[in-house]
Amino acid sequence: MTGPQKPDLDLSIWPVAARPDRSCQRTERLISGILDWLTPAQKVGQIIQADISSATPDDVAEYHLGAVLNGGNSAPGRQQRAPLSDWLQLADEYWSASMRADGPRIPVMWGTDAVHGHNNIAGATIFPHNINLGATRDADLVERIGAATAIDVRASGMDWTFAPSVAVARDLRWGRTFESYSECPEISAKLGAALVRGLQGRPDRDGFLGPNKVIATAKHFVGDGGTRDGRDQDDTMATELDLRDVHAPGYYSALAAGVQTIMASFSSWGGRKMHGNKPLLTDLLKSHWGFDGVVVGDWNGHGQIDGASSTNSPDALMAGLDMYMAPDSWRGLHATLLGQLSSGEISSERLDDAVRRVLRLKYRAGILSAPTPSARIGRKSGLTDHSKLAAEAVQKSAVLLKNHKQTLPLSATSRVLVFGDAADNLGVVCGGWTLSWQGGNLDPNDYPNSETVLEGAERIVGASGGSVLRTQGDDCINTPDAAIFVTGEPPYAEFRGDREDLEYSIPQDMDVARLTTLRQAGVPIVTVFISGRPLRTNPLINASDAFIAGFLPGTQSGALADLIFSNGKVDFTGKLPFSWPTEPDDFGAGHGHKTRTSQFNLGFGLTLQQACNCPRLNEERQQTTTDHGTIFGNGVTSEGWRIQIGSAEPALPWSGGSRSCGNNSLTAQSADFGKQENAIMCTWRGERHEEVSFHHKSLDLTREANAGFCIRLVTTNEFAEDAPLNVLAACGDDLLPIGPLANYRIACRAPDKAEFEIPLSDLEDAGVQLSGLRMIAFSARAPASLTLAHLSIEMPRT
Ligand code: BGC
Ligand code: BGC
Repeated sequence: MTGPQKPDLDLSIWPVAARPDRSCQRTERLISGILDWLTPAQKVGQIIQADISSATPDDVAEYHLGAVLNGGNSAPGRQQRAPLSDWLQLADEYWSASMRADGPRIPVMWGTDAVHGHNNIAGATIFPHNINLGATRDADLVERIGAATAIDVRASGMDWTFAPSVAVARDLRWGRTFESYSECPEISAKLGAALVRGLQGRPDRDGFLGPNKVIATAKHFVGDGGTRDGRDQDDTMATELDLRDVHAPGYYSALAAGVQTIMASFSSWGGRKMHGNKPLLTDLLKSHWGFDGVVVGDWNGHGQIDGASSTNSPDALMAGLDMYMAPDSWRGLHATLLGQLSSGEISSERLDDAVRRVLRLKYRAGILSAPTPSARIGRKSGLTDHSKLAAEAVQKSAVLLKNHKQTLPLSATSRVLVFGDAADNLGVVCGGWTLSWQGGNLDPNDYPNSETVLEGAERIVGASGGSVLRTQGDDCINTPDAAIFVTGEPPYAEFRGDREDLEYSIPQDMDVARLTTLRQAGVPIVTVFISGRPLRTNPLINASDAFIAGFLPGTQSGALADLIFSNGKVDFTGKLPFSWPTEPDDFGAGHGHKTRTSQFNLGFGLTLQQACNCPRLNEERQQTTTDHGTIFGNGVTSEGWRIQIGSAEPALPWSGGSRSCGNNSLTAQSADFGKQENAIMCTWRGERHEEVSFHHKSLDLTREANAGFCIRLVTTNEFAEDAPLNVLAACGDDLLPIGPLANYRIACRAPDKAEFEIPLSDLEDAGVQLSGLRMIAFSARAPASLTLAHLSIEMPRT
């Protein structure tokens, strides 16, 4: 019996969005004219966006692709540090290809993740991430940053940025917390709209989407910040009212600011993936709110709908997606969609509507009539130096949490030691989405106008007759007048940054020792904490006389030194955009469950004038968090993993020492590899087939597979090319063969090591279901040996 279907959304509780009306009958007639001309293959091409690392200009011409993008790790000629001119030239090549296509010539457009400045281009000014901007609460500043970013994006020949993220992160464990302005929906909505205005211009003024402007994207629609346990791409734990009041306000405000594209989220709501969520994508966003722009997908996100794959996902279109982000899957997707059009599985009305939206966007942004990208740029070309604006943002976003006995400001005429892993490290202060997807490893030579905290201190102190000491030499013995310690989280992006808890411990033993020595000598310590989110740092706060939350300040982090030595010239104005945890499990603003305590509340932030009474904080419960990707390292398995040897049931557990199975046909024992007992040495004598296996209850690696991850092994260089070792993996009970280990060896610079990378896609091809990986194993049936020092799931390095 089927009753009336329960409505998925109660649209009556959702207000209508206030949108500037930009509809124009003339434009619609023009678009209808183009649509009449297009063949089915050309239409399907228009609704696909491919990545520059897998689609050439010729592909764009042949398939009439509507757009290209450069993913976080893609660059012209795979040269991450390619100069701006190479980007511009490539933009010209794609554009020209789209203009020599057969049939109607529709210029291709190019989208990029310019999420804190034009962060994929070497040398661009890197603005602080959204979490910092949230601490400023300054919409005017954010609008100016949007305008500055648009100028650089234009200078590289691109048309479109996937920003702002208007996510409202509700659980600090989420690896994308730093992409969220605040846990508070109003702040996120206000600043998201400001960035849209800066990027696109104001819809009611001249210059809207004009030559200095780019198309903006509000993302990720909707509820990405509310997922279960802060796990990226998971199910959003929100009632319909929470969705409306917590996660949707950024879309109302972005729509009011005229945003032209909205990106569907990887996450789901009520178990339904957003890419297939018709009630939200079509009924709410398009029908109820009247959004007439483009709903773009996220990186193969359409493949995550139940029953779909990256190359086969008709339901996404039918649910309301207008442009598939199909970085590497575009070719297969194009073929399947065409087939589905002729079989009627996708309707030609829906396809036409999606194409109409793409064409409308191109028309509004002037792309339909613009000349080649390089010819669109005014006389002045190249990247613009926005360092003053970035420095302003850095200063306005630093939050002073402790200033015991007015330790700050420090005197610029004193002798100041500056140390810590982030004191002079651009990669750490810029965070993820900087030059590469995960960030890190930035060469200061690529950023000539950049200034680290150490360099900032040198600039100020140098001019005042004081001196800055670095940690080389005997500075700790010659006790300095004060010390500035800059430390924090290593860079990360997306799910790679998800954490189990919020406990922070200082990464370098050396720094801990130095901190202790300085404290014992009574030297005042100012800590600058660099992180993508508040973390529980009680021991470090206790150990510091002053404590500054700097979040992810970007290339102008030296501007923090102006605050530290301010002398009354500048003061702290930043206020916490997220509450700061007291305990490792004070995860955040909550999902409607248990109220959490916080050490410092949302909105907290001292000025230099304020006396602060900071009591000693509770230090118990120190624990280090594990790196999610590591399976085996330092001689031990990570949480959730265990090692077994032997193929017979029951196999023997191994957790150190020496153990043999099958009449000594396989022996596993602890071995030294640079460090004591940090490796496992396996020796097969060849009498029978045996394996060493790494077990997990069930691990979901679909996100990692989607992002192109691999299983990485580091062994000693004694690995013989002809070793008869095989890789196997299992999701259920059956171990499936993946291939000979030797096939996966990669070039390795360290002479004492051999390295291997096994793409997760090879496991998938072998039939392993990556939503529930249970085992990775290495086997041999002839004499062989393997000394494994490290096993992990990572981005390939090759
Ligand atoms: C991210 C998006 C991003 C896209 C393109 C995805 O993995 O979730 O935020 O815009 O990739 O790089
Ligand atoms: C790309 C990112 C993308 C991610 C998807 C990476 O390989 O470079 O742009 O967001 O995969 O998870």
